[in-house]
Amino acid sequence: MRTLILFAHPLLQKSHVNIHLIEGLNSIEGITFHDLYQKYPEFDIDVKREQQLLLEHDVIIFHHPFFWYSAPAIIKEWIDLVLEHDWAYGAKGNSLKGKYLFNFITAGGGAKAYCSDGYNQYTVREFLKPIEQTACLCKMTYLPPFIVFGTHSIKEEEVRDYRERYIKILKLIRDDKINFDELAGHEIMNDVTL
Ligand SMILES: Cc1cc2nc3c(=O)[nH]c(=O)nc-3n(C[C@H](O)[C@H](O)[C@H](O)COP(=O)(O)O)c2cc1C
Repeated sequence: MRTLILFAHPLLQKSHVNIHLIEGLNSIEGITFHDLYQKYPEFDIDVKREQQLLLEHDVIIFHHPFFWYSAPAIIKEWIDLVLEHDWAYGAKGNSLKGKYLFNFITAGGGAKAYCSDGYNQYTVREFLKPIEQTACLCKMTYLPPFIVFGTHSIKEEEVRDYRERYIKILKLIRDDKINFDELAGHEIMNDVTL
């Protein structure tokens, strides 16, 4: 399985968490690490190039900090431009059929804040419904998001643990050692024993 990480962080120079989580990802075999803000600082997304990248991979990850209960702006722009009618969706749009998509997210809020009686009222998975349905419309399987909660007070060793877990997941996916049907049944990927 080939995995494409579409990474989006508009202020990486100020990052405390993602800057460590992405260390070395581009040197893992079978993984393509694609930094959208670095590639397109002016949002001039090369649609054909992005579509070609999608065709070359089986699993797509939107890796980003949670911004206003959603993704940083370039992800929305990327979706708006790249997922064209009759290419990604619609009667003739089968280019992404059978691929997998999930979000890898870092969130300032803690896990307890993301539930019906918590501060943010909804789960992260609920906030991600537009992306989940976008995957469905494009005939992809949406997998549960992996979420790094509580980034405002996270410790260095916790970030290190998350990074190791992330790399483990990426390698299991690459080596086809993940049961995707079983995985799809979970609310979030954090719950899965790997
Ligand atoms: C513009 C903006 C919006 C944010 N919105 C949210 C949010 O909706 N929910 C949340 O839990 N954290 C939110 N945060 C916190 C970020 O998710 C958090 O700072 C980030 O994941 C930390 O990763 P980093 O150290 O790599 O920047 C927001 C931060 C910024 C700058």
